[in-house]
Amino acid sequence: MILKEEILREKLPNHIAIIMDGNGRWAKQKGKDRIFGHKNGVAAVREVTESAAEIGIKYLTLYAFSTENWNRPSKEVNALMSLLVSSISAETKTLMKNKVRLLTIGDTSRLPVKVYKKLEDIIKKTSKNNGLSLVLALSYSSRWEILNAVKNIASEVNRGKIDLNQVNEKFFSNFLCTKKIPDPELLIRTSGEQRISNFLLWQIAYSELYFTNKLWPDFKKEDFYAAILDFQSRERRFGKISEQVNF
Ligand code: FPP
Repeated sequence: MILKEEILREKLPNHIAIIMDGNGRWAKQKGKDRIFGHKNGVAAVREVTESAAEIGIKYLTLYAFSTENWNRPSKEVNALMSLLVSSISAETKTLMKNKVRLLTIGDTSRLPVKVYKKLEDIIKKTSKNNGLSLVLALSYSSRWEILNAVKNIASEVNRGKIDLNQVNEKFFSNFLCTKKIPDPELLIRTSGEQRISNFLLWQIAYSELYFTNKLWPDFKKEDFYAAILDFQSRERRFGKISEQVNF
């Protein structure tokens, strides 16, 4: 059965976020080192990005490197950074061809200069593309992002630039890294772990959560479509009752 054909185009989520997990375990199962797992994880990034662009998803956010990931052994951190540069460089043509716009969220000032510059370059190059927006969460953690927003708002209040009464949900959202990005309707996590790990805590207030046992390098187009179909079978009530949302 081809799952893609079952997807209702009029009920597509606008924004899908993914916690790509399980590269290390995937490699271990094969008797290889963790970096081998990350290299194969890149192939899954390509699969999912392609599928998202093909079916018309507007935003795809991938948790590629968390603030906490800086604490991994330096060999692994360096390998992840090199992989990031080599894969985005290798994919630039494809991104342009498919009108994919690259964005990042997170404290990218912590990234090595070479990685930061490469990202800046591709972000600029793809900035006018109007297809899928591919958002890479890099050196990202939600608590960092929220604290940062609170500090910036407090500083503006102190300087008399804003009045505390102006601070409502919409206003606060504009101080987050995702200020121009709609909240995800669907959050996928691979590898069987069922937690959020400091990812988009504010933005997923009403997201549907989808957990799969597949390890990230094994996550293929069909798995992505299965997650979307599962999403489409759910009733999203946003605190209302069933009869209110079905009219
Ligand atoms: C989680 O698996 C994966 C990561 C921390 C990194 C994800 C990075 C990539 C897929 C490669 C580069 C990305 C892009 C966007 C080109 P894990 O290492 O936590 O696995 P484990 O839980 O099994 O140890």
